[in-house]
Amino acid sequence: MWPDRRLIDLFKTEFPIVQAPMAGALDADLVIAAAQGGALGSLPCAMLSVEKAREQVNIIRQRVSAPIGMNFFCHRAVDADAGREAGWKRRLDRYYMELGLDPAAPVNAVNRAPFDAAMCELVEELKPEIVSFHFGLPDPALVRRVKNAGCIVMSSATIVKEAIWLEENGADVIIAQGAEAGGHRGMFLTDNIAEQPGTFALVPQVVDAVKVPVIAAGGIADGRGIAAAFALGAAGVQIGTAYLRCPESRVIPAARTALAQAGDDSTVITNVMTGRPARGVANRVMREVGPISPDAPAFPHAATGLAPLKAAAEKLGRVDFTNLWAGQAVRLGRDMPAAELTRALAGSALARLSQLAG
Ligand SMILES: Cc1cc2nc3c(=O)[nH]c(=O)nc-3n(C[C@H](O)[C@H](O)[C@H](O)COP(=O)(O)O)c2cc1C
Repeated sequence: MWPDRRLIDLFKTEFPIVQAPMAGALDADLVIAAAQGGALGSLPCAMLSVEKAREQVNIIRQRVSAPIGMNFFCHRAVDADAGREAGWKRRLDRYYMELGLDPAAPVNAVNRAPFDAAMCELVEELKPEIVSFHFGLPDPALVRRVKNAGCIVMSSATIVKEAIWLEENGADVIIAQGAEAGGHRGMFLTDNIAEQPGTFALVPQVVDAVKVPVIAAGGIADGRGIAAAFALGAAGVQIGTAYLRCPESRVIPAARTALAQAGDDSTVITNVMTGRPARGVANRVMREVGPISPDAPAFPHAATGLAPLKAAAEKLGRVDFTNLWAGQAVRLGRDMPAAELTRALAGSALARLSQLAG
């Protein structure tokens, strides 16, 4: 039995496991499979239009009868700064030359728009059971509308201060995102990545500071990690990296190989890929320009200059400019269908918990 049933009762899922939303790495297929396995499936919407997000939710609803989560970024959008963009392009010039690309050719801006009124209307129309945010919460009026639509609201905290702020501003569940986690740091009250605790230190301190259920995220990839999260006081786990090698993910073959070959020391936090710190397997541009560069334009504009390089390198089967977001437990990943993986994670966690109880 699960030692804490608050999340299962709240979400009405079989297991207290959230398949992490991972923008760009998955779509409806993985959400459906994770939900069929008993997890809360989460659709990342940060890189989707309203129409595409609606289409994806409809596909999920047609294929599985389970609660679903929709996930959005809620950063404060800043306009691209032409001077900074030009400096960034100059920094990347040698790669453009190497790949035979024209650095002056116009590039379509990479779209990672924050949650807005149009997406809020979609949430009101679709009424997903859960809505989660990354980078804080949107404007209070939008949070109220999401809650009035009957959705449970969650967001990530990287330090205790953020967890308290989220609870005070309407979050029903807090995801404590330890430094081990793959993808963007969900930070919004700090920009100091060095001061953010790992999962083991963060979770119990967040649990002590808030009344709402806490989900542990970051570096959890098997039953041992899940059992440890419960021992620390979490009511559930959010797992990202471990789902990336599932056949249902949208990870391209060359990136899959990089993930499969990664070890415990392969990931770093970088701002080079998008302008915001995120953890991923180090690729060539992260190593040569970063991992942290003061020249990277603000989120998400750093990605714009990289987009042509990424496309050209991927055609050659290379991931030199591709986001390889992954957490520190990447090596524990397995090539396994997502439903099967979910059941294996839950089964091994329960076995480990009963072993520890005995
Ligand atoms: C490839 C990838 C993409 C991610 N994209 C998102 C996202 O779109 N929204 C979000 O809230 N979190 C995102 N995250 C962070 C996850 O929600 C979660 O914090 C993280 O995966 C947990 O750590 P783990 O990867 O070690 O399991 C992403 C993580 C990864 C690995």
